[in-house]
Amino acid sequence: MSVIQVHDKSFETFLSEETIQKRVKELAVAINNDYKGKQPLFIGILNGAFMFASDLFKNLEIDAEICFIKLISYQGTKSAGKVVTSIGLMEDVHGKDIILIEDIVDTGKTLNDFLPGLRHQQPASLKIAALLHKPDATEYPLIIDYLAFSIPDKFVIGYGLDYDGLGRNLKEIYQLV
Ligand code: IMP
Repeated sequence: MSVIQVHDKSFETFLSEETIQKRVKELAVAINNDYKGKQPLFIGILNGAFMFASDLFKNLEIDAEICFIKLISYQGTKSAGKVVTSIGLMEDVHGKDIILIEDIVDTGKTLNDFLPGLRHQQPASLKIAALLHKPDATEYPLIIDYLAFSIPDKFVIGYGLDYDGLGRNLKEIYQLV
């Protein structure tokens, strides 16, 4: 196990690159099967989901589109409690099969705030793919259709996730010591 320092905090290895890649491929296989003959639109939620979205999308064999939106809800290691859309959705989702790609569902507030507006635009279907879920932190329960890992309620970084801007480039996922 390796320990790294980011800003003022120490983090230890939690999920290896190999474990993450294997699981992301499994999710892609499930999506390939479920969406055979369809052409879903993936909506990646920036910043955290960019790496997961990229690896998931690379492993798809169906025709699919992807776009990104940016929602901000976190500052440091604490949720700011308010979700702000800083890059909005430009695509028309009406009648489309939508799969949202989120890095981590913590309290569930981010998606809970965003989903009603999306549903209002009447997509044909709407599913959620998330890399991580902290079930013990849930305040706004939601169904995650494609979940890579369920994890304890501890702050994590790496593979797209940051602590105050740093750590996104790590290939593994690290947990706060
Ligand atoms: P929620 O609204 O509480 O579900 O939080 C969702 C967002 O908070 C995620 O998209 C992340 O950007 C951020 N977040 C939650 N937990 C962590 C964590 O452990 N590390 C880094 N970011 C996190």
